[in-house]
Amino acid sequence: MAHARRPFVGGNWKMHGDSAHALALAEAVAARAGSFGAEIELAAFPPFPYLAAVGRVLGGSGVHLGAQDVSAEANGAHTGQVSAEMLLDLGCTHVIVGHSERRHGLGESDELTGAKAAIALASGLTCVLCVGETLAERQAGHAHQVTARQLRAALKGLDATALDRLVLAYEPVWAIGTGVSATPQDAAEAHGELRKCLGFLYDAGLAARTRIIYGGSCNPGNAQELFAQPGVDGGLIGGASLKAGDFAQIAKCAAESGRRNLASAVPQQERN
Ligand code: PGA
Repeated sequence: MAHARRPFVGGNWKMHGDSAHALALAEAVAARAGSFGAEIELAAFPPFPYLAAVGRVLGGSGVHLGAQDVSAEANGAHTGQVSAEMLLDLGCTHVIVGHSERRHGLGESDELTGAKAAIALASGLTCVLCVGETLAERQAGHAHQVTARQLRAALKGLDATALDRLVLAYEPVWAIGTGVSATPQDAAEAHGELRKCLGFLYDAGLAARTRIIYGGSCNPGNAQELFAQPGVDGGLIGGASLKAGDFAQIAKCAAESGRRNLASAVPQQERN
């Protein structure tokens, strides 16, 4: 029996645009969100300076507010950092941790990523934990080893009860912002490996209920096929999330795939 997980679609706005752009995008996303109801979980991750204003626009729309990063420290003398408490104070419910633009762009380690995931989850935030291999790692045949290592390191010391609000994002580095997404088959395989890894680290129940989403050049043209793969529970969307229409199209694909999974998860005797 397929396990019905509620699809998740997040828009990672990265460091694009100004406040006017952020507000207009938030309004356009909020206006389209109503058609999805509770079928899927939607979140927007604007740049830090615009969180509060975007949060006010998204309020009541059902689109969650998320940050693109969080400090591993609770508070104190950490210039330039933003704590989980501050994010909660601004109305954030979600945060991205371990994005490749932080791991590879800023040299953040597996250990730092793990400390961020731990504080995010302990604070009550939903943590979108990103893992993914580089092109060289994939070409060397190490993709699964790399993502398993990243996952193990990020979850080190966390027990299963802490992981209710974990969303895992498989984001192959070579697919991010390149226009070249993983093939649906590659994504399905990577998600399957990650789910196996969760089962090995924890148990089959946790592996079955944890959402694993795909990120990397996902767009309205490929979302349907990607989300139709077993174990692909939605997406983390960069470039295409900057256009509300494209983002809504992608969300629609996730909602349709969620509906199909729900139908196949209904025990046979309950169906006519
Ligand atoms: P992209 O980014 O959709 O622009 O490839 C995805 C991400 O970085 O989360």
